[in-house]
Amino acid sequence: MDVQYFVSIFILLWRRTDSSDAYPKLCFPEDFMFGVATASYQIEGGWNVSGKGESIWDRYTHQYPERVFDHKNGDVSDDSYHRYKEDVKLLKELGVNFYRFSISWPRILPTGFINDINKDGIRYYNELIDELHRNNIEPVVTMYHWDLPQVLQDLGGWTNPIIADYFVDYAKVLFKEFGDKVRFWLTFNEPLSFCHDGYGGNDAPGGQASGLEDYMCGHNVLRAHGKVYTLYSKEYRNEQQGSIGITLDIAWMEPATTSKEDQDAAETARQFTYGWFAHPILTDEGDYPQIMRQRIDQNSKRQNFARSRLPHFTSDEVQEIRSSFDFLGLNHYTTYMVSPGDNKTSAVPSFNNDMGVSMSQKAEWPKSNSSWLKVVPWGFRKALNWVKTTYNNPNILVTENGISLKPGLHDPKRVNYIDGYLRALHDAIYKDKCRVIGYTYWSLLDNFEWMRGFSERFGLYEVDYESAERTRSPRLSASYFNNVATTGCLPT
Ligand code: NOJ
Repeated sequence: MDVQYFVSIFILLWRRTDSSDAYPKLCFPEDFMFGVATASYQIEGGWNVSGKGESIWDRYTHQYPERVFDHKNGDVSDDSYHRYKEDVKLLKELGVNFYRFSISWPRILPTGFINDINKDGIRYYNELIDELHRNNIEPVVTMYHWDLPQVLQDLGGWTNPIIADYFVDYAKVLFKEFGDKVRFWLTFNEPLSFCHDGYGGNDAPGGQASGLEDYMCGHNVLRAHGKVYTLYSKEYRNEQQGSIGITLDIAWMEPATTSKEDQDAAETARQFTYGWFAHPILTDEGDYPQIMRQRIDQNSKRQNFARSRLPHFTSDEVQEIRSSFDFLGLNHYTTYMVSPGDNKTSAVPSFNNDMGVSMSQKAEWPKSNSSWLKVVPWGFRKALNWVKTTYNNPNILVTENGISLKPGLHDPKRVNYIDGYLRALHDAIYKDKCRVIGYTYWSLLDNFEWMRGFSERFGLYEVDYESAERTRSPRLSASYFNNVATTGCLPT
């Protein structure tokens, strides 16, 4: 730790205790929750120990190391499988109310089959959850954060409708084994990302085609989500008293100008990226957003597909999917400026061609260490307001928000990012009456950032990947976040 680090902490503390503050303190509601998040493949390591099965990320990173920016993988990563007690200590030190983590499906069901439960996997998550409770930290559990058992991918993964039944089996095990001590469940994390980038792009399992598999994936994810929500409501809710949501990611889509064309293009982009999953769950219409239906049906016809590339739900599925949420998880990082793209139907089907918009970011927006992530706090407030007006003001838990920077403990840019986004969130809650119950910073620790390897660091704690112990050290932002989480207020 250097001198600069201590000076910054001193300034932060001084600002916090200065009673002559000219501005009133911005505080969040009494019961508002602050937390941090991680995901199994990104932090656990222990990829092949204690009976764990292979996941699609194990297979993909081993098979195509050159596709990952630094040619690394999650085999060891932060080694949280062995060091979870250290992680809980950090959470305690941070003073957060909850910890959002995900369960690795192949650690629980290595063969995908429910009669083959891996006892060590159950033991691991039981110990983690118990350790959290001992420290008064609420577990918020994501069931699926992208690490599908490879055996199920061999059957077609999320493109095969049968996957929904396998997901229900997996959920049964989770409710049975952990349901008495988990109050917040999230079925899926960012289906837009893993369906679009996984089945139509470069993420695992490495889909070749897009514009077909990505919609099939989305369809089966929604079916699986509806089934698991119904299962919980029928068989577990009474006794376990928990709530279930799904985490959808929303980048704010701002019209490039005030022209009607740009406004329409921005709305189309919102519907394709967020409405794709939100519309079937949060509206009564029982289908994807109209604009998606219209554009994909039309493009499919022009491309000589005998049926639309965007599947239809049966009426039973509509029943199960409609209103299948107790709260909504929302991930938000950044904003794009949107205008119409080339609206011609391309011969090669693709999600981007279906959406038909052009997206860019302003050169003057502050940068992060990720090419896609620029700092635009006002976009967060707009995104929350759009969700509020479009879907009748649902209860939202912000399940991710964060910034990647270069390694280093002195990270005032991260402090500014969080502070700016929290101010936008405060306005959304108090001025705009958006219903938001909590905020999660991504991430507790630096971790394996998918195809960007360890090159993009999001952690409040830095991880030293050169050390066998994977030493964790607090950044300046950890002390900032500790202040916010424990006082419930932003420093003035
Ligand atoms: C979204 C994902 O849920 C998470 O896994 C990822 O690391 C962060 N955003 C940052 O890109």
